[in-house]
Amino acid sequence: MKLAIGNDHTTPEMKEQIKSHLEARGIEVIDVSPNTSPPPPYPVSGYKAGKLVAEGSVDGGVLLCGTGVGMSLAANKIKGVRACLCSEPFTARLSKQHNNANVITFGGRVVGLEMAKTIVDAWLDAEYEGGRHIERVDMITVIENGGVVG
Ligand code: RB5
Repeated sequence: MKLAIGNDHTTPEMKEQIKSHLEARGIEVIDVSPNTSPPPPYPVSGYKAGKLVAEGSVDGGVLLCGTGVGMSLAANKIKGVRACLCSEPFTARLSKQHNNANVITFGGRVVGLEMAKTIVDAWLDAEYEGGRHIERVDMITVIENGGVVG
């Protein structure tokens, strides 16, 4: 498995720790946020990671900024990205099982490192259930493509 990871100026240290956590799970990690001072702002990393996910160069993305909000907003602007902001593992698990979230975001100023790892693991360990969820997730794609639902 290959994942993109990205951070902003609020989260370079946590990014490194999450990266190590992912690598310890045997995951190849593509870091879209160079450790410059400051690192790129969240829209840049959200965009870059989202592009990699949408074009299929990686299997998913993990994005962290102060709240996780900016990263989710930016990544969700890319067609094909379903980024979910999570502050606890229940939502992270359901975001994969029901919404087929291909990007997870969280706030490094909101959750601590151990909670962040638990969130990432819950998302990684879950599988999209398909079934009754397919029609709903497909509707999101319709909206994304300028179509009408409902
Ligand atoms: C930076 O201050 C903060 O705005 C950013 O990290 C992020 O939380 C935005 O959504």
